[in-house]
Amino acid sequence: MFQENSQVLWNKHQGGSYYKIGIGCRKEYSAAQPGQFVMLRAGRCAPRSALPQLLRRPFSIHRLIFSGDDVQGIELLYKIVGPCTRYLSECKQGDIIDVLGPLGNSFRVPDKSRRIFMAAGGVGVAPLVFLADILQKKKADLRKCTVFIGGRTADDLLCRDDFSDKGMSVQVSTEDGKAGEKGLITVPLESAIRQQPPDIIYACGPSGMLRSVAGIAEKYAVPCRISVETLMACGMGACLGCALKMKNNEGRYLHACADGPVFDAASLVF
Ligand SMILES: Cc1cc2nc3c(=O)[nH]c(=O)nc-3n(C[C@H](O)[C@H](O)[C@H](O)COP(=O)(O)OP(=O)(O)OC[C@H]3O[C@@H](n4cnc5c(N)ncnc54)[C@H](O)[C@@H]3O)c2cc1C
Ligand code: FES
Repeated sequence: MFQENSQVLWNKHQGGSYYKIGIGCRKEYSAAQPGQFVMLRAGRCAPRSALPQLLRRPFSIHRLIFSGDDVQGIELLYKIVGPCTRYLSECKQGDIIDVLGPLGNSFRVPDKSRRIFMAAGGVGVAPLVFLADILQKKKADLRKCTVFIGGRTADDLLCRDDFSDKGMSVQVSTEDGKAGEKGLITVPLESAIRQQPPDIIYACGPSGMLRSVAGIAEKYAVPCRISVETLMACGMGACLGCALKMKNNEGRYLHACADGPVFDAASLVF
């Protein structure tokens, strides 16, 4: 884990409230794995904004940025929801951001997993693109894999080409019905599982969606790994603010930053 003041390489609007930002990093980030995250303090890069940020905020590593064979930076996908992400959206090339990372555990892919389903809700797609990048690097046959991306509106359906360009099937749904199937993404996910269960499911998104995915995985006895998006203050196991209740283990808690953010879906109470 490293704490450094890193340069913004670029910052691009993706439509709606979504942006992608490239941030320089040291070469050790080449060992970063999908599911790992960084904690950002973005107050220094946007002098026009009113308040500097005291607490860092967690963001999944969306991609590694390479220059030849060397890692030059990390890419983050973010949605403006509050002060930190507003600051980030105002950052320009050359601005400095305080970055702590890489933190947390990662999505492990068992060797025998051939048919993989991924389920993403909104910005929860961020670590799953990194996972698909790594699977492609490991020569997994991504034509057997499907990603299910859900959002409230069409603006929330992100990164579809990042998966389809690798040969993955992409299914989308929106709550307002403006793109893909109308309704929650867990509906097409469950119907695909009913037809032919995958070897494993990976999911990231809001807690309601993760609860539903965990329930479906349990119902069809499919292994399922989820990345949770809890509130975090320190990101390092010090503040105990990201506690999650363990299933079948009365009174015991796990911590999203230190034990996760990736968990076996069957191990948590939602
Ligand atoms: C491991 C991890 C990875 C994450 N990766 C990403 C990512 O790749 N891209 C991204 O855009 N966001 C990600 N998040 C969520 C991001 O950290 C929060 O949205 C962050 O708090 C935004 O900071 P802010 O100051 O802009 O808004 P805040 O003022 O912190 O939050 C604005 C509003 O959103 C609510 N909120 C904040 N965080 C969460 C949360 N985790 N779940 C539900 N409600 C929340 C707050 O209660 C508040 O009402 C991740 C969170 C975790 C734990
Ligand atoms: S965020 Fe502080 S213990 Fe997890």
